[in-house]
Amino acid sequence: MKVCVVGVGYVGLVVGGCLAEAGNDVVCVDTDGEKIAALKKGVMPIYEPGLAEIISHNEKLGRLQFTTDLKYGVDNSHIIFLAVGTPSARDGSADISAILTVAADIGENLKEYRIIATKSTVPVGTYKKATDIIKSKTATAFDYVSNPEFLKEGAAVEDFMRPDRIIIGTTNPSVRKIMKQLYSPFMRKGNRILFMDAASAEMTKYAANTMLATRISFMNEISALCEELGADVEFVRRGIGSDSRIGSSFLFPGVGFGGSCLPKDIRALIHTGSEHGVEMTMGKVVQQINERQQERFVKRIRDFFGGREEKTILAVWGLSFKARTNDVRESPAIYCISKLLDCGMKIKAYDPEAASAASAALDGRIETVENGYDALEGADALVIFTDWQEFRNPNFRLIAEKLRSPVIFDGRNLYDPDVVKKAGIEYYSVGRK
Ligand SMILES: NC(=O)c1ccc[n+]([C@@H]2O[C@H](COP(=O)([O-])OP(=O)(O)OC[C@H]3O[C@@H](n4cnc5c(N)ncnc54)[C@H](O)[C@@H]3O)[C@@H](O)[C@H]2O)c1
Repeated sequence: MKVCVVGVGYVGLVVGGCLAEAGNDVVCVDTDGEKIAALKKGVMPIYEPGLAEIISHNEKLGRLQFTTDLKYGVDNSHIIFLAVGTPSARDGSADISAILTVAADIGENLKEYRIIATKSTVPVGTYKKATDIIKSKTATAFDYVSNPEFLKEGAAVEDFMRPDRIIIGTTNPSVRKIMKQLYSPFMRKGNRILFMDAASAEMTKYAANTMLATRISFMNEISALCEELGADVEFVRRGIGSDSRIGSSFLFPGVGFGGSCLPKDIRALIHTGSEHGVEMTMGKVVQQINERQQERFVKRIRDFFGGREEKTILAVWGLSFKARTNDVRESPAIYCISKLLDCGMKIKAYDPEAASAASAALDGRIETVENGYDALEGADALVIFTDWQEFRNPNFRLIAEKLRSPVIFDGRNLYDPDVVKKAGIEYYSVGRK
């Protein structure tokens, strides 16, 4: 099939690459000329495991093209995906201006029937607004599908190639059939395609993200109580996760959730609720626990170095909001580091992929290094924000040697407390005495 993907970010690039990998002809369109020029030269704008290989392979075969010319994409595709950003507006609502701009531009260029499918996360009712805008610009027939994306950064290629389910929000049977055909290469293991109306599809995405965030916040709240009572949250996590009614995913306590989706999508859901007179109590509590969790982590470090903040240098491992991505949007690391900088501490940080993005997000206020152990040189403590694989089994003896007062603040519970203590390092983690 011929496909156009508008918006070449974390989602659009994965969608475009994976659809090309399945044999479709894909045109990826973005207004960011620098990004498109770089992609044409083979330079990836993001880090996502396995994606660079797919992009370069399909570009070489001529199945994947990058352009800033939306008209070219509309003319040369049967299905047009919208994958532009929908960031938080000041009032917490989702800013869907990019979606509506693209809808208008597509309308102006629509000369033949097309299916227009939205991958971006958009509030319920966006399907109607986008449809109305396109109709106001063209008399050409089209169908609109809400097709929310559930991929996770860090495992995005795997998630797209082998999704748990695909949600197709349209009531039109012929459009359902075409969408099913497009996705069939990815559904060979009997994964489900769920058909529903567009409003329910839009709602499903917000409900899913709020549920995932709820599980994290729930465990974080339990972890706070564990600390007070001398219980170990890691035993509790395994204890409840092995209950098949509960399951073990998204139950890891830590320094709080972040990223470009969960925080903004909860804000948008709360806003949608308030617009319709339905208080989203759960979302608000989830948000509040998440903020508290980050504050508690910062407070623990501040209390430890109380009165010596100006003289304290912290080595930091991990800046991205989770492992296997360079995305630092709403990363707990960025939030906590800015608080620690504000109280006078200095930061020497290492991240395998996110150092430059984090440094930019923190206005260059941190020093970044190329190797985790270099960050420890002259530092008073090691603080861990991200669960990168390479942090999981470090040389504790070397850490103890390099740190001035060997102490680790672990925001991800990566280590066995006994092992760390045996190396002569003081150890603070989450929800464990
Ligand atoms: N990042 C994720 O893990 C993830 C997962 C599922 C869903 N989503 C949703 O997918 C959407 C995209 O997220 P993202 O993380 O890929 O965003 P992103 O910020 O990485 O990428 C958005 C891209 O859209 C481009 N763009 C903006 N306006 C445009 C226009 N008028 N025409 C063409 N291109 C335009 C930008 O230049 C940018 O390259 C959001 O709604 C997000 O909530 C994201």
